[in-house]
Amino acid sequence: MITIDFLADHIDVIPTLAQWFRAQWPDYFADWSQEDMEQDFREDASRERLPIRLVAFVAGELAGTIILRTREERRLADYQPELGGLYVRESHRRQGVGAELVREGMSLARTLGYSAVYATTVAAAGILERLGWEFVKTIVHEDGENSLYCCNL
Ligand SMILES: CC(C)(COP(=O)(O)OP(=O)(O)OC[C@H]1O[C@@H](n2cnc3c(N)ncnc32)[C@H](O)[C@@H]1OP(=O)(O)O)[C@@H](O)C(=O)NCCC(=O)NCCS
Repeated sequence: MITIDFLADHIDVIPTLAQWFRAQWPDYFADWSQEDMEQDFREDASRERLPIRLVAFVAGELAGTIILRTREERRLADYQPELGGLYVRESHRRQGVGAELVREGMSLARTLGYSAVYATTVAAAGILERLGWEFVKTIVHEDGENSLYCCNL
């Protein structure tokens, strides 16, 4: 059974999230200390104001995370807010945890009064499309291409 909660209610998992993110994105976090990363996660531990990070548990075990946040990139400033920072622990993948995190993120955005939510991804395109998101355009980055998706809430 999958449970999704606010990170704010489970701040003890922050060191584990930091380790997972460093292992998944070593280049991006190369210059960050463990304390830097934990501080960054602590800033996402809100229930009412963006950024708000959610965490997933399967049978009581931490399994994944997603964040609803304001997009920082200026050229994408019109596509707010975004669901990002999606990660599911390897041992728990392909069991629907990622889809459940996206669904809860959409529900959170709706509760906060947003009429649409956006995401840029390659890996989660299938999840988004099955949940009714629409492809907007391709975004070219230094390190490759991503697809920008929109979901009207
Ligand atoms: C991308 C990621 C979050 C997906 O998480 P997940 O929990 O595996 O997601 P889901 O289980 O909901 O869906 C993943 C796939 O498993 C399939 N699946 C879901 N439940 C399944 C089941 N019971 N049996 C078989 N397949 C299943 C889904 O159809 C989906 O297929 P697709 O990739 O072809 O669309 C995860 O792979 C991850 O953390 N990757 C590394 C970090 C990353 O790339 N993050 C995304 C940045 S945008």
